[in-house]
Amino acid sequence: MSKHLHAPLVQTHGVEKVYAAASKIAALKGVDLIVERGEFTALAGPSGSGKSTLLNIIGTLDRPTKGTVSYDGKVISTLDVDELSDFRLHALGFVFQSYNLIPVLTAAENAEYPLVLQGVEPAKRRKLSHEALKLVGLEHYAERRPDMLSGGQQQRVAVARAIIHRPSLILADEPTANLDSKTGAQLLDLMEDLNKDHGITFLFSSHDQAVLERARRVVRLQDGELKADEVRAR
Ligand SMILES: Nc1ncnc2c1ncn2[C@@H]1O[C@H](COP(=O)(O)OP(=O)(O)OP(=O)(O)O)[C@@H](O)[C@H]1O
Ligand SMILES: [Mg+2]
Repeated sequence: MSKHLHAPLVQTHGVEKVYAAASKIAALKGVDLIVERGEFTALAGPSGSGKSTLLNIIGTLDRPTKGTVSYDGKVISTLDVDELSDFRLHALGFVFQSYNLIPVLTAAENAEYPLVLQGVEPAKRRKLSHEALKLVGLEHYAERRPDMLSGGQQQRVAVARAIIHRPSLILADEPTANLDSKTGAQLLDLMEDLNKDHGITFLFSSHDQAVLERARRVVRLQDGELKADEVRAR
């Protein structure tokens, strides 16, 4: 087997982030993190500890001030803008706290949006968005706009959008923060099914102990540093 097959899915090496050089506040102070394929891992830590910063850097939405991010053994933090957007479109899915759906588009159109950016033809997009909405249990809501959906349903549309292009990794920043605890638990059920049945790796942040308890590994950040890394027996 080639060495490539054994490379971790994601590896950060010495990742530092200083937002404004003048303020000299380091949001991340040398983070070394390895995420293997198939993980269902949470990032925990108090407000301001660097969870969103780390997710954004791993997701290539932001660049580290120092250090590197590798994906499948290949350094991605130095790719140019076009290469990065191509990488994101194919390899990553994002779920945000505030769903980030496009209000004028239907659930189906929101779900298929990454495929529009990839230039996939409409008939194929429709088929894939139908499948993705079915996976998240919203096949009967395909024509609804976000304002006609509950928060939990909107977040499930966001998950459908995140999985439509079959990414290896989904990054989710506080995906349950705007949901009540029951709806949040249902979203975690869905994420867990996608992890188990479709092999999608998840890295998600949360403040909520009930959410953290669902993770198989919890990585704790404090003041921009990794403070603990616990793997749960389940
Ligand atoms: N765009 C920005 N410009 C300047 N400083 C920032 C910016 N984003 C975050 N920070 C700072 O970086 C540090 C880490 O912030 P980050 O948002 O990563 O924390 P977090 O762990 O996600 O917090 P929360 O749990 O509140 O979401 C904080 O001190 C924050 O004030
Ligand atoms: Mg945050």
